[in-house]
Amino acid sequence: MAPIIRISDAKDYAGQIVTVRGWLQRLTGKGKINFLRVRDGSGIFQAVAFRPNLGDEKFELVTTLTTESSIILTGEIKVDPRAPGVPGGVEMDLRDIEVVQVAGEYPITPKEHGVEFLLDRRHLWLRSNHQWAIARVRAVVIRAIRDWLDDHGFLLVDTPLLTPAAGEGTTTLFKIDYHGEPAFLAQTGQLYNEANIFAFGRVYCFGPTFRAEKSKTRRHLQEFWMVEPELAFCKLEDLLEIEEQFVSYIVQTALERCGPELALLERDTSKLAQVVPPFPRISYDRAVEMVNAAAAEGIIVPPNEEPVPAIEWGGDFGAPHETYLASQFDKPVFVTHYPTAVKAFYMEPEPGRPEVCRSADLLAPEGYGEIIGGSERMSDPDKLTAAIAKHNLPAQAYDWYVELRRYGSVPHSGFGLGVERTVAWITGISHLREAIAYPRLLGRITP
Ligand code: 4AD
Ligand code: MG
Repeated sequence: MAPIIRISDAKDYAGQIVTVRGWLQRLTGKGKINFLRVRDGSGIFQAVAFRPNLGDEKFELVTTLTTESSIILTGEIKVDPRAPGVPGGVEMDLRDIEVVQVAGEYPITPKEHGVEFLLDRRHLWLRSNHQWAIARVRAVVIRAIRDWLDDHGFLLVDTPLLTPAAGEGTTTLFKIDYHGEPAFLAQTGQLYNEANIFAFGRVYCFGPTFRAEKSKTRRHLQEFWMVEPELAFCKLEDLLEIEEQFVSYIVQTALERCGPELALLERDTSKLAQVVPPFPRISYDRAVEMVNAAAAEGIIVPPNEEPVPAIEWGGDFGAPHETYLASQFDKPVFVTHYPTAVKAFYMEPEPGRPEVCRSADLLAPEGYGEIIGGSERMSDPDKLTAAIAKHNLPAQAYDWYVELRRYGSVPHSGFGLGVERTVAWITGISHLREAIAYPRLLGRITP
């Protein structure tokens, strides 16, 4: 019996007869020869059905196969650098085929489909080559995130998803009924991370987070995955050094391990290769000047379609501002010291200049916008209590959080990196909805 292998391992079986189990993507050819493009989840390759090698009966069987038919193929692995598929360079000379099911008429065809049509069929769309490549890059990104943090002394501590209080502002809360008590789906694990650093020094949480975003954009999901590292004895300046090491490692690991996937996605990887420390740092003040200078000149940078709008000091940047700012650098750029008024309640004000806070957003190049939000945290319990009141948050719900500052408070900092924004950037896709298997979008919760 031929060994059963996966397409990703086929290159190790040159000249041998093996069995591969998968699905037919496309059947082409005529006369004595047919080409079957086959995927098995680990890769995509071509099997060649040549009538003299396969025999008349099986050759006729091949001609009846439809897209997505499930098949078991046995044949000889041939190495040919020109062979199509990923990873490239192998094909199969078919000697036998068993049909598990001839698929019904498959709704997704090589022609262009509208995105709503595809989202309605997300459970099938995932089978397409692009979606396969994106999902694999995502898995590599997640592994790189965990590897880097685990190797740098961060302890994974899971934080709750059912929470009694807002972590990131009250406008994007998903409210739920917790046995008669109001509760919320977690917007962040940060507040718990801050408790955890006093026990473990450096921690991270990693999981889904929820935001009831009220507008449709290509950068916002209702449910997204975020990794949030938090460190004791860490000032903003130290935090930025951690962030640039971390992001560079993720990008370089994806480049190293996802060559075939990024090639399939036709990603220009030259820009990603430049993502190595140090990253440029600019203040919010400087960023406002840059934006307003560009606005005065009517500068348009893609994917912006309009000139970048002017901004008044104190306002938060929108996507067009972030796109313009990032376009001025060939690496991700930190924008630090945002106005206190546009940021969350827990950020440490800049000494001597309380109208700005010790925050930093990291803006990705090529129009992908903010991939990280982070800051130094308020470490004084009385200042924190005042900030909670100023944001009209219910004091009692934050008692435990303030109490952390009464027993050995230290300067501490942390950040959150959005997985889907990072994956969208690395894969070069234009919308976050393809960076997660089942996107939760405004007006869509199926399939
Ligand atoms: O800037 P944000 O809101 O920061 C926090 O949640 C902090 N508690 C993190 C921390 O300091 N521990 O979100 C962090 C990142 C953003 O930079 C973005 O990448 C992503 O999370 N993000 C979203 N991604 C997809 N859809 C959304 N609606 C997102 N909102 C934020
Ligand atoms: Mg943010």
